[in-house]
Amino acid sequence: MSKFYITTPIYYPSGDPHIGHCYTTVACDSIARYKRMQGFDVMFLTGTDEHGQKIEEKAKEQGITPKEYVDDKVAGFKKLWEYMNISYDRYIRTTDDYHVEAVQKIFKELYDRGYIYKGSYKGKYCTPCESFWTESQLDEKGCCPECHRPVKEAEEEAYFFKMSPFADRIEKLLTETDYLRPKTRAVELVNNFIKPGLEDLCVSRTSFTWGIPVTFDPKHVVYVWVDALSNYATALGFMNDHYSDYDKYWPADVHMVAKDIMRFHAIIWPAILMALDQPLPKHLAVHGWITFNGQKMSKSLGNVVDPFVLGERYGADAIRYHILREMALGADSSFSNEIMINRINSDLANGLGNLVSRTVAMADKYFGGTLPTDRDEGDVDKELIAAVEGLRAKVDVCVDETRLKNALEEIFTVVDRSNKYIDETEPWKLGKDESKKVRLASVLYNLLEAIRVISALLAPFMPTDMPKVWEQIGAKAEDVTYEAAGRFGVLPADVTVHKGAIIFPRIDVDKEIEELNAIIKNNEPKEEAAEPDFTPDELAAQITIDDFAKADLRVALVKSAEKVKKSKKLLCLQLDDGFGGRQVVSGIAPWYAPEDLVGKKVIIVANLAPAKLCGVESQGMILAADTPDGGAAVVFPDQSLPCGSKIR
Ligand code: ME8
Ligand code: MG
Repeated sequence: MSKFYITTPIYYPSGDPHIGHCYTTVACDSIARYKRMQGFDVMFLTGTDEHGQKIEEKAKEQGITPKEYVDDKVAGFKKLWEYMNISYDRYIRTTDDYHVEAVQKIFKELYDRGYIYKGSYKGKYCTPCESFWTESQLDEKGCCPECHRPVKEAEEEAYFFKMSPFADRIEKLLTETDYLRPKTRAVELVNNFIKPGLEDLCVSRTSFTWGIPVTFDPKHVVYVWVDALSNYATALGFMNDHYSDYDKYWPADVHMVAKDIMRFHAIIWPAILMALDQPLPKHLAVHGWITFNGQKMSKSLGNVVDPFVLGERYGADAIRYHILREMALGADSSFSNEIMINRINSDLANGLGNLVSRTVAMADKYFGGTLPTDRDEGDVDKELIAAVEGLRAKVDVCVDETRLKNALEEIFTVVDRSNKYIDETEPWKLGKDESKKVRLASVLYNLLEAIRVISALLAPFMPTDMPKVWEQIGAKAEDVTYEAAGRFGVLPADVTVHKGAIIFPRIDVDKEIEELNAIIKNNEPKEEAAEPDFTPDELAAQITIDDFAKADLRVALVKSAEKVKKSKKLLCLQLDDGFGGRQVVSGIAPWYAPEDLVGKKVIIVANLAPAKLCGVESQGMILAADTPDGGAAVVFPDQSLPCGSKIR
């Protein structure tokens, strides 16, 4: 069996995953599933890139260790992948021991081979921040971009990786092979980085510690990109004994990334492999960004709807379909809720959904669900059959060239062709005429066959919903294999259909847009508005300071949150209260999604007697203010306060 190794980037768990991350992961998953269907022995790798200064700082802000910080975020990524039905074979975390050791060996090996040497790093240094900056990172006044104080020229000892010996080979790789997809991007890489002379790369840092220490000089940590890129090999067992799949799966067949990290994968990664004398990956597929209002969708933009929320409303497969269908390899694609909903309605509800439900309903209505076995042939049949028989080969090419948008277009051309066949053959008229029953059965059989092939080829892209289609058209597992998807006439002549629920319901566009906009608005950082017209409750009766002191108020961090089942109002929060943790249930679900709170500091009444709310134990309560519209607004203290700080 031939092998097939495909990877996503390993994501920075410095925030929560968004639709942009979903694109690469869903695209790789679809290819992995397609290749498995074709009989390849597939290794599909994803993971998280957990070291570096940014993570160290974020953890510090929250008063937790970097490992605690990433553990929590990684759980969020894994949850989303499960939700999106991602079939990864392996998940690498760069904090895994085997990876850490392997990177240390790689670094040492590069040093021993003479490609890494000790030098000094010259830059602008900010003493209060203990940080080096390059000229281009400084603020408008030439000062530290963090604290805006003056910086000075300084030198720091650092290790460097010699890239120049590989310049010619890399240029050839980019311009003369089909490594880079789309190849049109080779020009910019060659002109910007190779032609001016490949500069040696600074591959160690001493300004922070959250990284992999250089074994022979431990005040240095390995540059996070050397650490991260190595994952593609260490995850198979390169330079470690934890896995032993390197000989089998390396080199990678496809690394898929967005354009923001193309340079690292097109130049630095091949250079590292060349220096280690290892085979090069076969393809680097570079896609554009999913943009939102013209900007790259990213963790820091609060204006996007969480993929969980979208999946909850339309189903994971509809989201998968939409993002794959919109993005052409190499180009950006702009995301909007409106485009998404219209796409779901036109292609899934009206196109495929209608095709399935009409065909199954007619087989049910005219033949009680089981087709009679006599057939005839009409002229219009030939064109449909040819389109169905030719589909698999077309999709194969698109998948092999990482053009998934085109693969889906090919499949939906046959969906449209099939719907047109219904219009041409008018089976509802045939059904009224006893003498046309053979024709009617033939038409319905041809349609079921078209749906069978369409759904078999769509299954890698939409793995959750296609089995529902198979159930309705009476297809068994052996009818929807890769082999069967290349042939017409696989279903038994007396196939029995099973009318079922509508698989892709039509969405009410206006209503949905309104609701999604409300969700987005709720997530936006609240602007400082004019004082609202608001009548607060009557002030309570006076108490003494001793009365107040009885309440033990503390700062706590929301580590995770989830809706309490069977309740519309309650969220159950797991808190780090600085005293070993506790669970608090709060009636704020109408105003906060669980993910709005995770990672935030809140104030709790720590000595409130425990109570059960909807059967769930609550140890204390969190403070929230009444809002003018009758809602609740959680009181968020300064994020930098340590958990357990007393409030008095
Ligand atoms: O760069 N549109 O991690 P990262 C499309 N840790 N794709 C997007 C996207 C968007 N708006 N936003 C993110 C890193 N992506 C490094 C990678 S690999 C050895 C180390 C996807 O979390 C896209 O695949 O910033 C992009 O390349 C990747 O997320 C970067 O994710
Ligand atoms: Mg990034």
